[in-house]
Amino acid sequence: MTRTRPDHETVLDALALACRAPSVHNTQPWRWLVGDRSVHLMADPQRRVPATDPDGRDLLISCGGALHHLEVALAAFGWRAVTHLLPNPAEPEHLAAVQAYPHHTDAEDIALVTALDDRRTDRRAYSSWAVPTGHLDLMARRAADFGVVAVPVTDPVERHQFARAAASAAREQEADPAYTSELAFWAGRGRSTEEGVPAGAIPARTVDVEGVPMRAFPAGSLAPSPTGEHEQDASVLLVLGTTDDDETARLRAGQAASAVLLTATELGLATCPMSQPLEVPRHRERIRDRFLDGVGHAQLVVRVGYAPTSAPAVPQSPRRPLADVFAYLPGMAPARPRAAGHRPG
Ligand SMILES: Cc1cc2nc3c(=O)[nH]c(=O)nc-3n(C[C@H](O)[C@H](O)[C@H](O)COP(=O)(O)O)c2cc1C
Repeated sequence: MTRTRPDHETVLDALALACRAPSVHNTQPWRWLVGDRSVHLMADPQRRVPATDPDGRDLLISCGGALHHLEVALAAFGWRAVTHLLPNPAEPEHLAAVQAYPHHTDAEDIALVTALDDRRTDRRAYSSWAVPTGHLDLMARRAADFGVVAVPVTDPVERHQFARAAASAAREQEADPAYTSELAFWAGRGRSTEEGVPAGAIPARTVDVEGVPMRAFPAGSLAPSPTGEHEQDASVLLVLGTTDDDETARLRAGQAASAVLLTATELGLATCPMSQPLEVPRHRERIRDRFLDGVGHAQLVVRVGYAPTSAPAVPQSPRRPLADVFAYLPGMAPARPRAAGHRPG
């Protein structure tokens, strides 16, 4: 008999993969509710990082990324996701309802779910290998599927202007004790943790890429990239922008960011989401004016480039157990639930 909807095991496997999505400071600010015909994504506002993300933009982008990861996982398992964003205006934490319909899995679905497992945030310097224009075009097309532009900062003058805005934003944030203590809380944890940015994924020395500072997380132990002393980092910064700046636009930016990150990973590129330059409103506006022609709204910057071939892999960052982030809607639990102890990834 042909199934018309995925069984519980498939839904849980897809949710475990969805939870591999990147999130600001690895806060994983999401919850999932599983119904008979749909899966619901809920925001977890307790996990917002107020000093870093005062207006909750990073939280919504993180949730949009998890939503896209779920769509990718379902496609690989033979299900096409049909997603309804913000289905209930009276309940703003209810971010999306997803229904699944039979789908013929193709090679691209498999490539994306493989990238989902391979992707890591790589905060080190990248090599001098240029990112091919065709790769940037493909990433831009995948972002456009969600109504999001992905504008590359390639011109050296523009890069310099971006660097100045990013450095100023970093200095302003680092002068705020609430920001530094929030960062210290979430960063540099040991291996037993289930959240936050582990020490092993943070460079031991702060990284400045051609004048653009990477967020300076404390307590890192990741060895620097084995780049040559005079080698220029040829990574490209992609500014993701939307026409509107409401919740829907931010969720779409998250879906697009996930599509860009997975596409880059599929193409063999290293990636790093960067929100710090946009977390200080004045610099977010400057970046919008300079790179989005003064229209629309900058939502996230993604750095893409080739890691040196001899660079060791960045360790996978942890995730909370699936049992902590999902629940069945009343009356929906299967007779023999499997979730306890099931870990994402
Ligand atoms: C909205 C958003 C903003 C982020 N901002 C930054 C950032 O400014 N700097 C950084 O190094 N990583 C940033 N990250 C990456 C997260 O720290 C990373 O996804 C998280 O630690 C989990 O690690 P993983 O991506 O390797 O799975 C951001 C991720 C998201 C989704």
